Amino acid sequence: MKITFLGHASLAIEVNGKHLIIDPYISANEKAKHIKIKHLKADYILLTHAHLDHILDAEHIAKNTNALLISNYEIVSHYEHLGIKGHPMNHGGSWQFDFGKLTMTSAIHSSSFKDGSYAGNPAGFILETNKGSIYIAGDTALTMDMKLIPLQCKLDLAILPIGDNFTMGIDSAIIASDFVNCNKILGYHYDTFGYIKINHEEAKSKFSKKDKDLILLKIGESISI
Ligand code: NI
Ligand code: MN
Repeated sequence: MKITFLGHASLAIEVNGKHLIIDPYISANEKAKHIKIKHLKADYILLTHAHLDHILDAEHIAKNTNALLISNYEIVSHYEHLGIKGHPMNHGGSWQFDFGKLTMTSAIHSSSFKDGSYAGNPAGFILETNKGSIYIAGDTALTMDMKLIPLQCKLDLAILPIGDNFTMGIDSAIIASDFVNCNKILGYHYDTFGYIKINHEEAKSKFSKKDKDLILLKIGESISI
């Protein structure tokens, strides 16, 4: 499984020959100017919630690629009205896709479209594949629900927000990694705008003091698990 950081909370995942784009917010991200949306491959687009910093480029990418959009019922319905096909899910539900098994998890956050209309509840995803399993937390606070995840699967990587203010910060993310029983963490949702700037070295050393590995990728950089 290859995971590429596209900036902010945007990821590209390649597994079992399929391409997944998560929460695409690229065209308005000054730090991601070198990422060209038209070059992104997508069989699936996963959206955790409807805030603009997670869905901005979803319509454009879906129409470029004919990708299937996976999100909660409300967000999928919104995109179906725009002519984009989707697969609706809700918290606690799993579905076996051709790339692996996807489970929608709860997240403590909010979720509405730009015009204020209802977008269901915010979520995260667990992706279990024959090439490894990952947790994509989405925008969330530290929550006791995370303790349920290791009862269901063994993670190889936890992708956690670390920017604070709108989501967990570093100290909470360290506890979250204990809750999900995974010591390999890819940080996201940091540095994009003023409220969520972090000190990279301090963040990494806080994790390493707990024998955990915090990975902070450059935008466009990838890791494999
Ligand atoms: Ni959000
Ligand atoms: Mn966000």
